[in-house]
Amino acid sequence: MKLSAEQKERVEELLAQMTLEEKIGQMNLESPSIVGGFDVPFEELIEMMTDGRLSKEEFQKIMSTAQRDYHEDDIRAGMVGAMMADDPRKNNELQKIAVEESRLGIPMLTGFDVIHGLRTVYPIAIAEAGTFDPELFERTAHLAARESRAHGINWNFAPMIDVARDSRWGRVSEGPGEDPYLGSTFARAKIRGLQSDTSDTADYVAACLKHYVAYGACESGRDYNTTSMSVSQLHNVYLPTFKAAVEEGAATAMAAFNDLNGVPCTVNPYTLRTILKDLYGLPGFVVSDANGIKECVAHGIAEDEKDAGCQAVNAGLDMDMGTHIYKDHLKQAVEDGRVSMDVLDDAVRRILSVKMWLGLFENPYVPEDVIRLYEQSGLPEADVQTAREAAEKSIVLLKNENGILPLSRGQKISLVGTLAADAKEVCGAWAMSWKEEDCVSILDGLKKSGADLAYYPCGGPEGELNEEEIRRACADSDVIVAVVGELCSMSGEASSKADITLPGKQRELLEKLLASGKPVVTVLMNGRPLALGWEAEHLPVIVEAWHLGIEMGNAVANVLFGDVNPSGKLASSFPSVSGQCPMYYNHPSTGRPGSNSKFTSRYLDAPHEALYPFGHGLSYTTFAYEELHVEEQSDCLHVNVSVKNTGDHTGTETVQLYMQDVTASLVRPVKELRGFAKVELQPGEEKRVELTLKKAEMGFYDNQGQYVKEDGLFRIYVGGNSRDCLCEEIRVKF
Ligand code: GLC
Repeated sequence: MKLSAEQKERVEELLAQMTLEEKIGQMNLESPSIVGGFDVPFEELIEMMTDGRLSKEEFQKIMSTAQRDYHEDDIRAGMVGAMMADDPRKNNELQKIAVEESRLGIPMLTGFDVIHGLRTVYPIAIAEAGTFDPELFERTAHLAARESRAHGINWNFAPMIDVARDSRWGRVSEGPGEDPYLGSTFARAKIRGLQSDTSDTADYVAACLKHYVAYGACESGRDYNTTSMSVSQLHNVYLPTFKAAVEEGAATAMAAFNDLNGVPCTVNPYTLRTILKDLYGLPGFVVSDANGIKECVAHGIAEDEKDAGCQAVNAGLDMDMGTHIYKDHLKQAVEDGRVSMDVLDDAVRRILSVKMWLGLFENPYVPEDVIRLYEQSGLPEADVQTAREAAEKSIVLLKNENGILPLSRGQKISLVGTLAADAKEVCGAWAMSWKEEDCVSILDGLKKSGADLAYYPCGGPEGELNEEEIRRACADSDVIVAVVGELCSMSGEASSKADITLPGKQRELLEKLLASGKPVVTVLMNGRPLALGWEAEHLPVIVEAWHLGIEMGNAVANVLFGDVNPSGKLASSFPSVSGQCPMYYNHPSTGRPGSNSKFTSRYLDAPHEALYPFGHGLSYTTFAYEELHVEEQSDCLHVNVSVKNTGDHTGTETVQLYMQDVTASLVRPVKELRGFAKVELQPGEEKRVELTLKKAEMGFYDNQGQYVKEDGLFRIYVGGNSRDCLCEEIRVKF
C-alpha cells in the first residue's frame, strides 16, 4: 500500500475539516445487529447452536429471516468508518448514505472474512500451504479479492498468518501451519494477490493481517488462552509472517485476543507501536478483533470499558470492532486529556489513507452490471478451475501400501461415511458465503468421474453406526473408500479439542470395514492435524483431503483414480496421540535428544517424534535424492542435489532445504526450512535441483530482539520431508 503525494495531501485536507465526533466515527466498525425474528438475544442463539439446543440448519433458517439494524442513522451522522457485510446491493445502499448524506461524504470500508474465498471457496489455508506453491497462493488470493470487490467488500480480514504448533487449537485450520519460513512465503504471496493489482479498483482489496500476534501459541491449544514466550521466540517464530507481509505492503492488521507476556495484544504498545508501526512500518491501521477492547476488562488490565478504550487507542489500536467503546467514550477521554488529539489524528489519518489508496473516494460503489454478472451467470469458470487445481494440489498422500491407489474405474467401489455425501462440509470452518449448489461432495465427484460405486452412509463424526449399511458396503465391493474426519464446526474459532483422534465412532467403523478383508482407502476430511497412531498402524491407505472448498469432490476423484498424481505436503506435523501436542519439527535439540534410551526427552507411552512430519507427502511414484553439494559464496550458499523419479508415474516433488545452526549463543532448532523447489519428473527422469540459501537468512533473533548471524558450523539438509534428508556440513563466515 503506497499513497501518492496528491493522495496524502487530500487525506490531510480532509482530516483538517473533521470534527472530533467525525474523527471518532472513522474509528468505529459496525456490523449489522440482529434485532428480531426470534425471541432470544443473538448471543443466546449462538450458545444454543453451540450446545446443540439448536441445529446449524435451524440457526441458519432463523438468520435468513431475522431483521437487522444496519445503523443507517449513525452512517448518516458520519459515525461509521467501516461496515461488515457481504451483500453487494445492501453495501451499495449503505455506502450511498455515507457518501451522499453525511457531512463530509467519506466512504466506508466494507470488511468481511474472506479467508480462502468468498463464494468460490478454495482449500483451507493449512491445506493450501502444503502445496508449497507461492504462485498458487497469490492466484487464489487475487481471485478472492476480485470476487470480494464484486460483492462490495473492499477489505478482507485475511490472510490469517498465525504460526501454530499445537493442533488441539481449532484455528490451526485457518493458518499456514507450523513453519515461519513457509508461513512468510504464504503471507507475502497472499498480500501480492489481495493488494497488488491496483490498476483497477475491481481487482484488489485492503488486506488485514491476523491475528497480531502469537495467537497460535495459546497455552494448551485452548482458544483465547494466555501466551507467554521469550523475546527471541516471539521474533523467530511468531513475528516473521507479519514482518514479511508488511514488507510486501500489507495495509492493515487485526489485534489478537490473547494476552502476550501479560499484556493483551489489543492494548500492547510494544507489539502495536514499537514493532508493527515503528519498526516494520505498517502503512495503514490496526483494528481490534471482535469485542477485543471490551475483553480487556475481563483480562484484568482495564478497570472499565472507558479505561480499556483509552489504553487501546494510546497503544496504537486504531479501529474498534463491535464494542462501540470508541464511539461512546473517546470524546470524553480527549476532553479529559487521557487521549491526545495527535493520537486520534494518527489513527484517523491511517484509516483515511487506506480508503484513499483503495480508490473509494472515486469508486465507492459496485457497478450494477458486475452485481448482475454474479447473480445471473454464477461463478466465473476460471475461478472454479483454479479452485479445483488448488484442491488437487493440496491433497496429501500419507500412506499407500501395496499400491492400492490409484484405483481403476473398473473396480466396484463401496463409498462409506456421511461426510462423503455432505456438500455442506467441504468449505471448512471460516467460509460463510458459499452456496450449496456450487459445492461438489466426494460422492458427487466420484459419480461424475464415472466410478462404479454404491454409497453407504454407515456413520460419521457424530452419532451411531449403521451395521446393516456396513455389512452391505463390505459385501458388494472390490474396494471400500471410507471418508472420515471432522465436521467443519469441529475446527476453526472456539473449537479447541483435547482429544484430536477421529471423533465419534469412526475408528470403530474403520475396524469393521478392515475386518471384511477388502482393501480400504481412507480419505480424511478435517481441519486440523489428527492423532492417527492407530490408523497409521492398521490402515493400508490414508489420503489427507482436508476441507478443500467447492471443488473438493472433483479433486478427490481425480486423485483417487490417478488422473492427478498427489503432490501435496504437510504444513503441520501429525502426532500419533493427542498428548504429544504441541508437535513440530523445528524444535531445539535439548541436552538429551529424544530416542529409545530411557533418560532422554521421550514418553513412556508414546513416540517422541511426529507420526507424519512437516513436509511429508507421498506420490504414486517414488523419488531418490543423491549427490548433495553445498558451496559457499560471498552472500549465500549454493545447494544442489540430484532428484530422480524411480517409479512409473510422472510426478511432482517438493524438494525441501533445511539448515541447522549447530552451535550458537542461543540453542537453535535441529532444522529450519530455508528454501524449497517443485520439480516435475517423468518416470526414470533425473534432474539436478538448485537451491540458494542467503546468508542474510541464516541468523536468528536474540533476547534483545536483535538479528544476529554467528560464524560457525552449519548442517544443510535436503529431502522430500523434514525427516528423511541428505546432509552436508559446512563452516560459514558472515
Ligand atoms: C472473529 C475472529 C476474526 C474475524 C472477526 C470478524 O472473532 O477472531 O478472525 O475476522 O471475528 O468476523
